[in-house]
Amino acid sequence: MSNSDIDIVPIDPLDRELVDGWIRTQRAVVEHDLPGEPLPSPAFQRLRLLLWPDALDVERYVARRDGTVVGALQYSMPNQDNQHLLELELEVHPEHRRQGVGTALLEFTERRAAELGRDTILAFAVDSLEDGPRFDHSGQEFAKARGYKTVDQEIHRRNDITLVGDDELARLYADAWAKAAGYELVQWIDDCPEEIVDGYAALCERMYTDPPQGEELDIRPAEYDAARIRNTEWTRKERAETRFCSAVVHVESGEVAGMTDLGLIPGEELHAYQGDTIVEEKHRGHRLGIILKIANQRLMRRYRPEIRYVHTWNAEVNDHMILINEAMGYRPLCRDLDVQKKLA
Ligand SMILES: CC(C)(COP(=O)(O)OP(=O)(O)OC[C@H]1O[C@@H](n2cnc3c(N)ncnc32)[C@H](O)[C@@H]1OP(=O)(O)O)[C@@H](O)C(=O)NCCC(=O)NCCS
Repeated sequence: MSNSDIDIVPIDPLDRELVDGWIRTQRAVVEHDLPGEPLPSPAFQRLRLLLWPDALDVERYVARRDGTVVGALQYSMPNQDNQHLLELELEVHPEHRRQGVGTALLEFTERRAAELGRDTILAFAVDSLEDGPRFDHSGQEFAKARGYKTVDQEIHRRNDITLVGDDELARLYADAWAKAAGYELVQWIDDCPEEIVDGYAALCERMYTDPPQGEELDIRPAEYDAARIRNTEWTRKERAETRFCSAVVHVESGEVAGMTDLGLIPGEELHAYQGDTIVEEKHRGHRLGIILKIANQRLMRRYRPEIRYVHTWNAEVNDHMILINEAMGYRPLCRDLDVQKKLA
């Protein structure tokens, strides 16, 4: 089918019809492809159109046919590191698939990437687990057909925190502290305490180098400092997000040994999203991972007791993190594939 009747236009946040069509498309895609998963929150999507961290350049477009929004794409491009990379989200309304809309959007993206000097496009596609719910596989089929290669994969786990006994968690937590003498817990909501922000930034950098990642996945080291952390915090607060954070500090040296965070978005009352979790190499083996995760989940429940599900993503080979998550009640939901293309 010809693509000449598809027009691709940037999303003007003040164009009510375009924005409504964009949100409707995103919600229809989740309803169709990931039944049971939370639908994108309109409040949050509208705020994301207006605000993002300084370290990213972002562009968003919709595809229209006869004036109706039938697909959408958004990409972010790091501008302080990874300047070769364009991270893409591309969606076509389930009622308008297999008509070339996805291909038109992807060709548009590849042309823009070349114009912008980005030679690596990274996108994501869902894969069902053998013993899990069946999800739609259009994304991975499309990626394969369009020359994208699976370069890494993560398991998406979900924790229904109402099913985890508080006593069991309390036992795990107490056992863990028995191995963690000499460390103390620091917790905050949104803004990292000034005394540890440099150590926290150093751990954010380690998130680019320490977790296992596929050999061909082209994500390169990044630099973080207090200013970058503050800008990210500011952006999240302006978007009405809430971030629950915990860190462990090695008392004698004052080093920030590990951290974790959980994010909540506006308009979403049931689901929370796990962000980074890391324990610095020389501080491993003291159960700091489990201390961080349990303490942080408790912090969130104190302030937002209605949250029921927490989502997390881990590399399949990240045994240690997986053991911690499974002990806390996380169970596999699906596999997320990282699909990448190197532009010639
Ligand atoms: C992936 C997606 C964007 C494809 O959109 P689309 O408009 O249907 O794509 P196209 O019509 O351009 O398809 C191009 C080719 O991809 C392949 N393809 C797309 N969907 C497929 C499917 N469900 N099964 C098998 N092959 C498929 C086919 O080779 C197709 O060509 P053909 O129709 O001539 O056989 C759409 O299914 C979607 O929004 N999925 C959910 C979001 C997602 O997974 N995005 C990640 C993309 S990497």
